[in-house]
Amino acid sequence: MTPAPDRGRTPRPEVTPGAGRERPPSRRMLGGMTSNRSLEALALTKTYGTATSATHALLGVDLTIRTGESVAIMGPSGSGKTTLLHLLAGVLAPTAGDTLWGGRSLGSMSDKERTALRRQDFGFVFQSGQLLPELPADENAALPLLLDGVARPEATARARQWLSHLGLGGMESRRPGELSGGQAQRVAIARALVGSPGVIFADEPTGALDRTTGWEVMKALTTAARAQGASLVVVTHDLEVARWCRRIVEMRDGRIVRELSQTAGDGGTTAQPGAPEAPQAHEPPQAHAVPTSFQAVTR
Ligand SMILES: Nc1ncnc2c1ncn2[C@@H]1O[C@H](COP(=O)(O)OP(=O)(O)O)[C@@H](O)[C@H]1O
Ligand SMILES: [Mg+2]
Repeated sequence: MTPAPDRGRTPRPEVTPGAGRERPPSRRMLGGMTSNRSLEALALTKTYGTATSATHALLGVDLTIRTGESVAIMGPSGSGKTTLLHLLAGVLAPTAGDTLWGGRSLGSMSDKERTALRRQDFGFVFQSGQLLPELPADENAALPLLLDGVARPEATARARQWLSHLGLGGMESRRPGELSGGQAQRVAIARALVGSPGVIFADEPTGALDRTTGWEVMKALTTAARAQGASLVVVTHDLEVARWCRRIVEMRDGRIVRELSQTAGDGGTTAQPGAPEAPQAHEPPQAHAVPTSFQAVTR
């Protein structure tokens, strides 16, 4: 078994306070890169409840997410999207099947090992309400490092780098109640990234946002994941959100029924919604961002 990288003691890049939008502290800079960081679902099956009142939420899902790949899981409510995400992340135990992370079986790990793996290798973004209301943005974003035993000054410094990278420089001391919905989601993205995860899991990350803010948040999320070299798994029922990912898998009644892939994975920036000043605050849409057509792969 590969030992967990010693995250608290690896050399860190210099933090230059007030240096504007800084480069993200990449996994390469931080060390700890392992060669195989693919995530594999092997015949994942999940049944909730008892024999008399069982819900068959997942009926044998196979899926491979390669290192750095972005995948959207789409489908109607109740089709098993969240269940699949939780099984991939080791939050829930499957009824049958297994998840492999870098070739390691989550099913054969102890609860303690799985908890450590989730904290060190995975990052999570939810729909909303995931920030602690009494903590400022930098401490909210630093939480995974603080829980992992990283000293507070270093943890908050690294959190501030991500906040700055995500366009939140100057807002480090604000509490969640003093941030807009889109800003709060970017703090949540900083928190998901601060521990240099290999995979970021996001469940309906724009579900509580309007269309334009959702566009900004997806841009921030996909750009940050790419900067980190992390894979991204996004659950959504919204095609506009899914278009930010290279692959889209479509679920129905606990099964993957269709898979689509595209070359851009840029949210179809040619079709960006109004209020152009907000997306442009990050960077203008790319000229190459034209191909938005998907190639269907029927499974
Ligand atoms: N904790 C649970 N206990 C019982 N049934 C559940 C539980 N979580 C989800 N389900 C059921 O499993 C099915 C899939 O749910 P879910 O994965 O949340 O779907 P989605 O995210 O696509 O809406 C649904 O029928 C749902 O009611
Ligand atoms: Mg769900």
